[in-house]
Parts: sequence; C-alpha cells; structure tokens
Amino acid sequence: MKRILMVGIALFVIAIVVLAQSKEQLLLSGWKFQRGAIPGAEKADFDDAGWETVSIPHDWAVKGPFDKDIDKQVVAIEQNGERNATEKTGRTGSLPWIGEGWYRTEITIPEGFCSGELIFDGAMAEPRVYIDGREVGYWAYGYNTFSLDITKFLPRNGSKEEHLASGTHTLAVHLQNIEESARWYPGAGIYRPVRLVLHPQNYLKTWGTFARTTMVSGISADATMAREARLYITSEAVIGAKLPKGKRLRVRQSLVDAQGNVVAKSEEEAGRHESIHVLTIQNAHLWSPEAPRLYTLVTELIQDNEVCDRMETKVGIRSIEYDEEGIKLNGKTRKFKGVCLHHDLGPLGVAFNKDAFRRQVRLLKDIGCDAIRTSHNMPAPWQMDICDEMGMMVMAESFDMWMARKCKNGYARFFAEKETPESYPWWHRDITNLVLVHRNHPSIVMWSIGNEIPEQGTTVGLDYTRKMQDLVHRLDGTRPCTQGMDKGTAPMKVGTWQECDIPGFNYRLHVYKEGYRNSPKGIVLGSETASTVSSRGVYKFPVKEEHGTSYPDGQISSYDLESCIWSNLPDDDWVYQDKCPWVIGEFVWTGFDYLGEPTPYDEYWPSRSSYFGIYDLAGLPKDRVWLYRTHWAPEKQTLHLLPHWTWPGREGQNTPVFCYTNYPEAELFVNGKSMGRIRHTDLTLDEYEAHRIEAPMPWGGTSVYADPEAKKNRLDRYRLRWMNVNYEPGEIKVVAYDTKGNKAAEETVRTAGKPDHIELIADRREMPALPIDANGNALDCPSLTFVTARVVDRAGNLCPDADQQLTFSVKGHSASFNSCCNGDATSTEVFTNPTMKAFHGQLVIVLQSTAQSGVSTLTVKGKGLKGGKIDIKTI
Ligand code: GAL
Repeated sequence: MKRILMVGIALFVIAIVVLAQSKEQLLLSGWKFQRGAIPGAEKADFDDAGWETVSIPHDWAVKGPFDKDIDKQVVAIEQNGERNATEKTGRTGSLPWIGEGWYRTEITIPEGFCSGELIFDGAMAEPRVYIDGREVGYWAYGYNTFSLDITKFLPRNGSKEEHLASGTHTLAVHLQNIEESARWYPGAGIYRPVRLVLHPQNYLKTWGTFARTTMVSGISADATMAREARLYITSEAVIGAKLPKGKRLRVRQSLVDAQGNVVAKSEEEAGRHESIHVLTIQNAHLWSPEAPRLYTLVTELIQDNEVCDRMETKVGIRSIEYDEEGIKLNGKTRKFKGVCLHHDLGPLGVAFNKDAFRRQVRLLKDIGCDAIRTSHNMPAPWQMDICDEMGMMVMAESFDMWMARKCKNGYARFFAEKETPESYPWWHRDITNLVLVHRNHPSIVMWSIGNEIPEQGTTVGLDYTRKMQDLVHRLDGTRPCTQGMDKGTAPMKVGTWQECDIPGFNYRLHVYKEGYRNSPKGIVLGSETASTVSSRGVYKFPVKEEHGTSYPDGQISSYDLESCIWSNLPDDDWVYQDKCPWVIGEFVWTGFDYLGEPTPYDEYWPSRSSYFGIYDLAGLPKDRVWLYRTHWAPEKQTLHLLPHWTWPGREGQNTPVFCYTNYPEAELFVNGKSMGRIRHTDLTLDEYEAHRIEAPMPWGGTSVYADPEAKKNRLDRYRLRWMNVNYEPGEIKVVAYDTKGNKAAEETVRTAGKPDHIELIADRREMPALPIDANGNALDCPSLTFVTARVVDRAGNLCPDADQQLTFSVKGHSASFNSCCNGDATSTEVFTNPTMKAFHGQLVIVLQSTAQSGVSTLTVKGKGLKGGKIDIKTI
C-alpha cells in the first residue's frame, strides 16, 4: 500500500495546498538510541545529545559481543523430547538483546490534517510510544505491524491539554526484551520501518482496501494469461466531515498494468461502511512464482469531482485451489517446494534490509524453491512486497505458542490477555492485523495460526483453532488456514486436525497415512520437514546416518546424513512427497541457518546459531543446496560432488564420494581410475516403509528413519554414492550420462595446494545510491552487495580448510562496510568488525551504499596471502 510520500518539508507544504490528500513519511534516519531504563526519556525536553545516532531498521544487539551468559536457560526443551532441565547456552543467539532501550526522533506535524497514525512494521519488543512525553499507545507482540492513532494530538483536535501545536515534536519509543521469551534470536530494537501517516477530513482507511481474485477463466496453456478475470474489491473510507445535503463521496478503482495502461475501472458511492467494486479484466496477466506479474490498483476518494485521497496497492491476479493432488495455482497442479525462514538475516541481525532478503529469495529460487513459511511469526511488509515482485508463495504465520508456554516468558503471557477491559484479547488483535496488513499480497497463499501449539491435542486447542480460523475467514474469505502439528495422532483424536482447512504435519512421517485418512479434504501438508543438520565444508568419518549426534568441534557432517532425533533426512520426506498425490508439498526447516537454536549443540559453548539451513548463516551454499536442486529443479541439470578432495593424512583411508545429480547415471574416477558406474534406484512407498525403523521417542511419539542397510535405499533416489573409495591426492571426476546412456556432463574436484591468494566475487558490482530527501533523510534502506572472499591456491582451487584471519577495508565514499559472516556456528567474532577468520576457506563481506555515487574499493587481506581487491560502483 502506498500513499503520497512526504519528501522534505518544502515540498510537503505545497503538496497540502494542492492535493490535501493523506501523506506518508517514512521515519528512517536521524534517530537517537540508548540502551537501558532511562527515566524521563519520553519527554520533549530530555537531553539525548549523548545518545548514539542510528538509522532504522536497527538491531541494537547485532554488534555483540557474543556472551555465553546471555539468556542462559536451565530448561528441558520438551518439544525436543527432553525431560530433565540442563543448562542451555546460545539458544537465543548469545547477543545482547535483553533489556530496555529507547529511541527518539523528531516528527513534524503541519497544520491542515484532521487525523493521523503512526505505523510500526514491527518493534522488538513491547513497544510503548510517546509524543512529547504523552503516551500514544502500546503493542505487546514484537513481530506484528500495528497502527497507533495520533488524531487527538493533532493541532485543533483533542482537548486543549492534549493537542499539539503544528511544528516539530518528539517521538519516543520504549522497548523491553526479557529473558526466556524466545526459542531463537528475537533481536532487539526498531528493526522494521516506522511511518507517520496524516489524513485529511475524508480519507481512505489504511488497510481498508481489499482486492481479491474471484474469477479466472480461459487460462492459457502456460498458465500465465487468462481470457477473463475478475477482481472483487471492497474499500473503506472514513468520512469525517458532514457532507452537504445531496452530496456523496465516491470511490474510484483503476487497475493499471505494468505499462501504465488502465485496464479496468469502477466508480461507486462510498458507503457508510465500504464501497463495493467488481472489475473485469480481459486478457489478464496472471501472477505465479514463475511469472510474477503485478498490477497497480489506484483507489481514489472523490468529492465534487476532486480527488481528496488516493492510495496505490500492488495486486496480482491468480486463482488458487487445494485438492488431493496438490495446490492448483492458475489451474495448474503443483506442490509446495518451500522452506521455513526465521526473521533474522544472519550478520545483519533482525534489521530488515530489502537487498538481503532479495538475495535470500534469489538463492532459494535457484534451487527450485517456490514458497516460504514465515516461521513462526508475521512477515515484514517490505518482505511481502519482495515475495510479490520476485515470485515466492508465502505461508504467513502468526504464533509459536498460544496459552501454554514453550518458554517461560514467551507470547503465552499475552495471548488471552486484554490491554483494556474493552479491547479484544491480543491473539484477536494480532491475527486481525496480520490479515488486514497482508491480504492484498498475491504471494500469500495460506495463513498459519500456529506452530506446534501444545494445546493441539486438547479441546481448548480445538476451540481456539475454530475461533482463529473463523476470524481469518471473516477478514479474508479467499485463503485457507493451516497449523503445523507435531503431536502425532493426538490432534486427530480431538478434532483439531480435521478442523484445519489444511492440516499440516511437522515431521511425523510415520503418521502421514493416518493423517490422510483423517483429513476431510484428503490432503496433508508437510508444514515443517527435514530438520537435517550440517556445517558447510565439514565432513565426518566414518560416513553413516546419525540422529542427534554431536562432536567435540561443535560441527556436523556435510554428507547430509544427520538429523535430530525427532526429524529426518530430505530423502525421507521425498518418498512421501513423490509417491503420495495427497501430500501437497513441504516447508523444509530451514532455508538458511539462523541465529540461536544451535541444535544439537544447545548445551555446547560456543555455539550460537543453527545448523538446519540448506544455506549457511552467510548465505553460502552447503552441499544440501545441490541435493534440493536435484529434486526441486528437475529442469536444471545438477551435478555436484562431495566431499572436497584435500585430505592430508587420510591417504589410503576410506573416504566415500557422493554425487548429487538428476542425471540418471554416472561414473566416478579417482585419478583416472574408475570407481564404477552407478544409477539412481527408486523404491515404492511399501518398500520404503518395510525398511523403516520406528524409534520410540521420550514423549511417546515415534521418530522414523529407514534402515541404512536396506538394499533398495531411499538415499539412492537423488544421490549417487560410492562408499568404497580410498583417499589419494589428485582429482576426483564424475562423468554423468543421460537417459539414453550418452555422456552428458562432468565435474572435477582437485586436491588444493597451499593457500595463495584471496579471490573476491561480488553478487553485484553496481548498486543504487541510498535515496534521500532535501533534508538528507533516507527514503529507503541502503542497497547492499554481498562479496564472497575465497582463500584459493595458485591454480584457483578453494583451500577447504583455510581459516586465516582476513581483514577488510573500504576506500571511497560511495560504499561502506556493513558486516561479515563466515557461517561458523561456533564463532564468537562479531559480525560488525571488519575482520573475521575464513571458515573452510570462505566468508562473506556485506557492503552498503551511501547517498553518494562513485566507485569504492574493497580490499581484503590475510597473513601469508596475496590480498584481493574489488571495485563496487554506486549509481
Ligand atoms: C520444530 C520447530 C522449529 C524448530 C525445529 C528444529 O519442531 O517447529 O521451530 O525448533 O523443530 O528441528
């Protein structure tokens, strides 16, 4: 949703006279920040001169330092099947996010507006907002977008005591984060944008316009066009002024295509409650992950032929249905190839940045991923814009807990509470905002009302499932609800499973069939799958399947054979995904490593980030990237060998070689000697289940994994494995054959020599300058470029064990150092210092644009290495 942006004060005043429409100002730069409980910090005359100046989105904790004692929890993680409390370090990231913090800035309130609101896209946590020392409002949940009404403070509104004179006023925000309130790194601070929105007397209500696709017919064979489509639009206007007799306000909707042509229009009277429109679009471009075509819906409020308010909303036209064969997007059946993502962006902490998220989406799309689950909370509005633009379906989630606590001070504190006796309980307000804020995004394909809610197997859980679904359906009748259930058959016995529009299993493959039998619509979603763990570049011997195993170095093997005791390997999920039409897809835990939850090292220090990611915390690919690519992107040819082939000291020892490929057959050569030509083999669901071992779990459920010795093995469906290879330095080469037996591709990995130089690869060499207004205020977040530094030998081979300390410097005024990350979950080097050790030969340096155009040079140095240099242009 977009309104007219206030760009600098001069323009702003002119704009009011001419247009008198709602105005929006992004409050991004010039904030003052200080940690701690500071008496009087909300007051206008408080002296904040000594405070740090920051821009938002901002995460106050990301600068570190990492500390073992931060949020050290002595708990039993019941969800992981633990019975006895033990000391957990690193569970919430070990960065200093706990405590209070204050932000202050100045806002300008001009004459002439009748109402206003402050919109926070999310603030961690429990934001309490003040203008000139007077409390404006509060929100309990740090993840949600909320709006606070500031009308009574505007000039000429409110009582004499309340209203403010036009001019500049102090906006202060108090935040508080308490220990044991999270199961992962929550971050801290105003980590998403804040907007000041001012309205004239009559205006279009924020989040009051809802456009939904209600009909799509004559879909083209490639599902990108429809002969005819309809959008049903409702718009709410606030009519603050009594209109002269006989006068009516009208609402005009115009749908504008990417070329700027108005393709459909409707004008209707603005009703007391809302105006109703049906737009018919001929030859409509449809939205999908493959062709994310968007339109702009321009909504105008018209009084006496004058436009008195205007709003732009990006919309997409698409149909979506769910049946026992999957989801039908624009009439085409598909399954979700999705990942779960937490809200942090690795070295940026939780401070949202568009380019950092765009990079994640790009990397995910490369492996065929088409969906994201915003686990376990509300997405940032900027994030949803990007999913629309780049084509990523989204399951937008809300809660990780309802009333029963998963951690002592989690959201359960608020769920059923009311702020005032008159207000709705927080769950109701939070679900309402989630749906109202995001329901126009074509990328959202379902809502999730909860993750592994402890009450799922009780009548209380059933009752809340019904209440929440009813509320979602009332606010958005177009999308179904799901929830991720982990308690086996318990939710089926009480009916929570059956009640869900789309019942979702987290893991629990052994009850998928039972879930299907109990699913009224005959569908089952893998709402959370895999939880396979690995560390990039690390390989452990002997090579075997492990569940819940840990090692003295705090790392896990990248042979991709390790999971938790409650979870499984990707290959297990794929048997069900591929063989059961009624399984409508999966959301892998997780697309990227994230801060906190360092399972299986919850008790190991230092370990402070997860091992679950397909990509590591720096966004560098683990081997699993190619495994998912073989399955999710069959149209791309994937041929990837592992492990690396630099093993001084392993000469003559067994060193299995795996190849992740979608070619049917391949031959491996070690220094030219054939290790055999092997093919993928498939197995039926019955064959798979016959070899499955069901391990009793502490809480009475069962985990599932196939017998690793089985002749027909699920691991041979997407991997080719040569188990009897002995290491000798030199090279391994794989030659792949197509279905006709013709040589189709080859891949070689060579033993690396001594570390020689640093190679730098930027994901882009040019980035846009930070846009600013006449007063120097940022109008967006900075652009970023991600530079991968690789320690290589003279011939350019990656040195897979290189761990040199690298240092970075940026020369020039058009870019600056933002952060760095090496993907090592056990590192306590902070992300924001311009130095870090390479981890298995690599790390990533993040540069950000300034408002100045020009060329800046990044130099990376390391002891004993020839340094690397790269120019980055800001335009
Ligand atoms: C799931 C849970 C996730 C994460 C994951 C780790 O049960 O929903 O939040 O904890 O386990 O395997």
